[in-house]
Amino acid sequence: MISKKMADALNGQIHWEMYSAYVYLAMSANSDTLGLKGCANWFMAQYREEMEHAMKIYDYLLEQGAEIELMAIDQPQKSYPSALAMFETALEHEKDVTRRIHKLVDQAITEKDHATQIILQWFVTEQVEEEANVSEIIGKMKMVGDKGNGLFMIDRELANRE
Ligand code: FEO
Repeated sequence: MISKKMADALNGQIHWEMYSAYVYLAMSANSDTLGLKGCANWFMAQYREEMEHAMKIYDYLLEQGAEIELMAIDQPQKSYPSALAMFETALEHEKDVTRRIHKLVDQAITEKDHATQIILQWFVTEQVEEEANVSEIIGKMKMVGDKGNGLFMIDRELANRE
């Protein structure tokens, strides 16, 4: 059985994961507008992943007999000055997600809620990977430049993400 406090916090995380999906969907649309099909593909894949994250917590809460409480989702930023700006914003966003996940783990530990700790471990590992992936793209963009041929090359590479 999960506490009301823990369930409320996890409902908050469902909201945050869905907001993340929204942020990345907007970035995908913005990339398309800029003619960056590879970036659009990468952010669209990220959008789908975030929805999966939200649904993972949703399924867990239902399994625990807790109530699902969906919240209003804010409008995400519509446009960015460059692809690099989008990925830098994505990295800051992921760092924020990581902080939120760690806070949830802290709460689960305080409550001695072992089941929630186990489900959250998956997210802890996932966040390490998410931050690393975005950092790598930022590193490449800074190395080859986020314009002209350099950007074209990176965009082509990002088109391969499934
Ligand atoms: Fe679901 Fe990108 O954190």
